[in-house]
Amino acid sequence: MSKSPQTILVTGANKGIGLEICRQLARFGHHVILSARSAQRGEAAVKELAGDGLKVDFLLLDTSDETSIQNAARELKQRLKALNVLINNAAILDTWQGTILKATAADLRDCFVTNTLGPVLLTQALLPLLEAGKPSRVINVSSQLGSMANMGDGWAGYGISKAALNAATRKLAEALQPRGISVNAASPGWVRTEMGTENAPLPVEKGAHNIIRLITEVPHSLTNHYLEEHGEIPW
Ligand SMILES: NC(=O)c1ccc[n+]([C@@H]2O[C@H](COP(=O)([O-])OP(=O)(O)OC[C@H]3O[C@@H](n4cnc5c(N)ncnc54)[C@H](OP(=O)(O)O)[C@@H]3O)[C@@H](O)[C@H]2O)c1
Repeated sequence: MSKSPQTILVTGANKGIGLEICRQLARFGHHVILSARSAQRGEAAVKELAGDGLKVDFLLLDTSDETSIQNAARELKQRLKALNVLINNAAILDTWQGTILKATAADLRDCFVTNTLGPVLLTQALLPLLEAGKPSRVINVSSQLGSMANMGDGWAGYGISKAALNAATRKLAEALQPRGISVNAASPGWVRTEMGTENAPLPVEKGAHNIIRLITEVPHSLTNHYLEEHGEIPW
């Protein structure tokens, strides 16, 4: 468990659960790097936190763009000696929530690129910093909708891409355990954000806490797990 200040990068953090994760981590005194694909939206989020007396750094990072990932990794290597935690939070939903029989190629592709490929490529790009920060962690923000054990129809691009993110989590966990880096997938629960909609039962504070607890409550030795508030989700 990590009580000492950690250096933590959060993707897709200009709003929703990512922004709230940054807020809570900054309150704990961690060095937080809030990243976003839009400089304007990202800097507005940094300003919002500053208004609450919380200091976080900003990093421009579009997780669907390989060049942006490489540029961001280069920039971080100049700024940091080590990274202790990478939280792959950025994600998108399909534009069509109905049956897979009508899912478009664009939705399937876009969800895969942002929700699966982005976290894998970013983890690769940040490996030297994560190794320098070990024992370090990669937390992939997944979803109950990515569980193969409970896979239903609907939200095809999202569900498939989160299941693939879970598979990538397991492969990364295997590959990185010998290097002192734990890798887990975690679901925040159904949370009231733009993605979760106002019908969701959980406030954003609770959703963010369900991710942060992997840093504050879960031992570093735990790797290759798929967790939610109450325990394990079947893969
Ligand atoms: N809310 C829920 O009920 C729920 C349930 C299960 C899992 N989750 C997961 O929790 C995480 C956060 O979800 P949320 O509810 O906070 O969603 P949200 O309110 O829609 O926020 C998503 C964030 O991701 C960013 N993003 C999207 N594509 C990006 C890209 N290519 N590069 C960088 N940033 C990108 C968005 O930036 P822009 O503002 O620029 O679009 C935004 O900051 C996601 O991984 C989601 O799958 C959420």
